[in-house]
Amino acid sequence: MSYNYQEAVGELKRRGYLAVDVDPTLDFEAEIIRLKKEKNAVILAHYYQDSEIQDLADFVGDSLGLSQEAAKTKADMIVFAGVHFMAETAKMLSPQKKVVLPDLNAGCSLADSCPAPLFSKFKEKYPEHIVVSYINCSAELKTLTDICCTSTNAVHIIESIPKDKQIIFAPDRNLGKYLIKKTGRDMVLWEGACMVHEIFSKEKIVALMHTHPEAKLIAHPECEPHILEHAHYIGSTSGLLKFSKTDPAKEFIVATEPGIIYNMERASPDKVFIPAPPDNHCACNECPHMKRNTLEKLYLCMKYELPEILLPDWVIDQGKKSIERMLDISAKAGL
Ligand code: 13P
Ligand code: SF4
Repeated sequence: MSYNYQEAVGELKRRGYLAVDVDPTLDFEAEIIRLKKEKNAVILAHYYQDSEIQDLADFVGDSLGLSQEAAKTKADMIVFAGVHFMAETAKMLSPQKKVVLPDLNAGCSLADSCPAPLFSKFKEKYPEHIVVSYINCSAELKTLTDICCTSTNAVHIIESIPKDKQIIFAPDRNLGKYLIKKTGRDMVLWEGACMVHEIFSKEKIVALMHTHPEAKLIAHPECEPHILEHAHYIGSTSGLLKFSKTDPAKEFIVATEPGIIYNMERASPDKVFIPAPPDNHCACNECPHMKRNTLEKLYLCMKYELPEILLPDWVIDQGKKSIERMLDISAKAGL
């Protein structure tokens, strides 16, 4: 049984655990640190989380790093400060551990753009193809996948597949197109996309590059091709962070979710990071799913160990193979 945040709070109230609403004067940071020790919990946070959550995490990283940590942790409880597919991945890799997510409604538009029943029908048209799925997909989609990948290891994963094998790539069409260009492999693409990375305005970015001629555009491969063609560097969140540290440029226009800028500024306080402008009027390019997690929800999920990620055994057994293959290939490539 899984609950969303409201249902979880309602359930806790019904069980009498939450007789009154949370005390607004509570020191959430101190409570979270105390609960971490008391429950032998580990907090894993993605770079797109708010800085106050990142500061409390035991590990902050990209999707690959987070899955590697989830596979090797000795903690009894994994608290996933990220989105649903990430917590599911952690559960598949450490099924004996309790995995909690501060808000069960923290989904992912990219994962939602590829429902497993539709993909299953699509796959029937290509019975000989190998299925490579970006890790940003549901646990059920992973059961239909031969090898997962993240944006850090995607090129290595595609290149590890024998040249005579044909490939279906799901669910991100933009990452898929980037990989076709980068590896020269022809692939059948599922037409999914991330709402955050498709919101950037090429016109506004190009105008910004004119007013900041020294700035380098760094972009995540989930962005559309017309954005990527202007980029000086394309990479995963950890790749973008590394590039911003090592490249001599002093100014960067950052085309990904702006949560990563917290780490970039901390690592290079002498450099300037400008969030790439979106194609909307409220100037918002934050991931609404990632930002559902708050300190209060983090505290509550650790205190009550809810909402918990629970998956059927068959999903864990079939889905984890695709993640383990990815982790093996990554380890061999030194990633
Ligand atoms: P990475 O951190 O692996 O680059 O993934 C970005 C992302 O969109 C996560 O949802
Ligand atoms: Fe999903 Fe995009 Fe948000 Fe990442 S940034 S969690 S891919 S919606």
